Amino acid sequence: MKNGKANDVLESTLSALASYTRHHFAYEEDLLKKAAFPEYEAHCLEHRILLEEVQKIQNRFKKGESVVSTDLFNFLKKWLVDHIKGTDMKYSSHI
Ligand SMILES: [Fe+2]
Ligand SMILES: [Fe+2]
Repeated sequence: MKNGKANDVLESTLSALASYTRHHFAYEEDLLKKAAFPEYEAHCLEHRILLEEVQKIQNRFKKGESVVSTDLFNFLKKWLVDHIKGTDMKYSSHI
C-alpha cells in the first residue's frame, strides 16, 4: 500500500482475507456457542458487520471500482485491533 502497488496484490489478498475471515468467525462462533457464552448474539453481530464490510470491499474491487487501500486498512484495524483486543478479550475468561 505504501509503495502504491496495492492493486497488484489486492485480488488474491482480498480473496484470502474474505475466506479466512469467514473461517475464523465460524470457528470462533462454534466455540462460543459450545461454551454458552452469554454475549454470543452480540459477538456474532459484530462478526456479521465485519464480514459484510470485507465482502463490500471485495465486490467493489471485482466490479472494477477502485478500492481505496485505506478502506482495507481501516477494516483490518477494526478487526485486528478493535475486535480482537476489545470484543474477543471479553470471552477469554469465560472459555
Ligand atoms: Fe476472533
Ligand atoms: Fe470475535
